[in-house]
Amino acid sequence: MVNGLRKFVAPECIIGVGALSLVAKYARKYGAKKTLVVSDPGVIKAGWTDKIVTALEAIGISSVIYSDVCPNPRAEQVMAGAEFYHSHNCDVIIGVGGGSPMDCAKGIGIVSSNKRHILEFEGVDCVGIPGPPLICIPTTAGTSADVSPYAIITNSQERVKTAILSRAVVPDIALIDPLTTMTMDPYLTACTGIDALVHAIEAFVSVAHSHIMDLHALEAIRLISKNLTQVIAKPDDQDLRGELMLGSLCAGLAFSNANLGAVHAMAHSLGGYLDLPHGECNAILLEHVMSYNFDETPERFLRIGEAMGLKLAGKTAKGKRTAILAEVSRLKVAAGISATLCDRGAKSSDVFELSRKAMNDLCLATNPRRPNQRDIEVLFEEAL
Ligand SMILES: [Fe+2]
Repeated sequence: MVNGLRKFVAPECIIGVGALSLVAKYARKYGAKKTLVVSDPGVIKAGWTDKIVTALEAIGISSVIYSDVCPNPRAEQVMAGAEFYHSHNCDVIIGVGGGSPMDCAKGIGIVSSNKRHILEFEGVDCVGIPGPPLICIPTTAGTSADVSPYAIITNSQERVKTAILSRAVVPDIALIDPLTTMTMDPYLTACTGIDALVHAIEAFVSVAHSHIMDLHALEAIRLISKNLTQVIAKPDDQDLRGELMLGSLCAGLAFSNANLGAVHAMAHSLGGYLDLPHGECNAILLEHVMSYNFDETPERFLRIGEAMGLKLAGKTAKGKRTAILAEVSRLKVAAGISATLCDRGAKSSDVFELSRKAMNDLCLATNPRRPNQRDIEVLFEEAL
C-alpha cells in the first residue's frame, strides 16, 4: 500500500561480468577526446586502470591518470585534480576504484565546471552547474558512490567530512563489473561488504523510506548476509562476487533515495577527525546504533532479521531483538572484523568532539530515533 507521493531515482547502470569493457563505448558516446582517469595506487597496482586506458587507446581516445587520492579524500586533492583536468584539456572523467577515487572524481567534476572551491558546495542541492560526463567503475562491493548523489570530501584543516548531496553529482553511467572486486584482500571485502549492509539497514529504517526503496534494501540485506562470508572463503568465485556486487547495488539504490542514519553520521565524524577507514567504522558502530534505534521501529528490525535468514517465529519480542542484534554481531566477526575504536586509536577524550561533529552530519536527519549529543557520546563510548 502506497500512501502519499514518493519519488525513486535510479541512475543508469550496467552490472555484470564484462561491464568494464564497455568503458570505451561510453566514453565515445559522451564525445571524449581525452579522459581524466581518477584512481588510487592500489587500484593501479591491481591493473584495472591499465585495462581502461588500453581500451580507450584502442579507439583513439587518450587519457591521463590522476592518482593522488587517499582514503577519506581531501579537498586539496580534489582541487589539484581539477587543475590537472584543465591543464591536460580533458573532457570526460572516469572514476575507478572504491568510494575514495569515485568521490574525488565527482568533486573534480563539480569544481571544473563551477570554478569554486569544493568545500563551498557542502549541503543539499548546492551544485549549480553539472560537471563534465562522469563514468564510474566501482572495484569494491561497496560504497555505491557509482550510483549515489553524494560526494564525501574531507576538510583536513577542520578535520571534518563535508557531505555534498546533489542530483548533479550522480554519475552519467556506472559500469559495475564483479570481476574488478576479485583483487580485493579479504579484510577490504569484509569492510566494504559491511558498509553496503549498513547502507541497506539504515535506508530500511530511515524516516524517509518508502515501498520501492524497501524492496531494494531488503534484497540487499538478503544478498549481503547470504554471500559475504562465502565470498571471503572463496574469493575467486565469480558467481558469489556477482551476488555480493548486486547486493551492494541494491543497497546503493535504497540509500540514494532514503538517505542513511546515525551509523554513517558517526562514521563520517570518525573518518574526518581521526582519518579511520569508512567501512571498518561502520562495522564497529552498527550493533550499538541498531540497539539504540531498535525500539523506535521494532517491526522494521524484525523484517531485517528475517531478510538475514533468521527464524524468529515463536520467540518473545525480547528474544527476537536479542537474536537480530546477535546475528549482526556474528556476521561482522565471521567476516573477520573484531576491532574496537580503541584498537584504531580513538580515545575517551575524543568522544565529545566526535559526537559534536556527528550531530552536524546530514545523515542524522533520517535516523529513526532523534538523538541528542549525549546519546551519541554514549554510543561512541560503547564502541571504544
Ligand atoms: Fe557507507
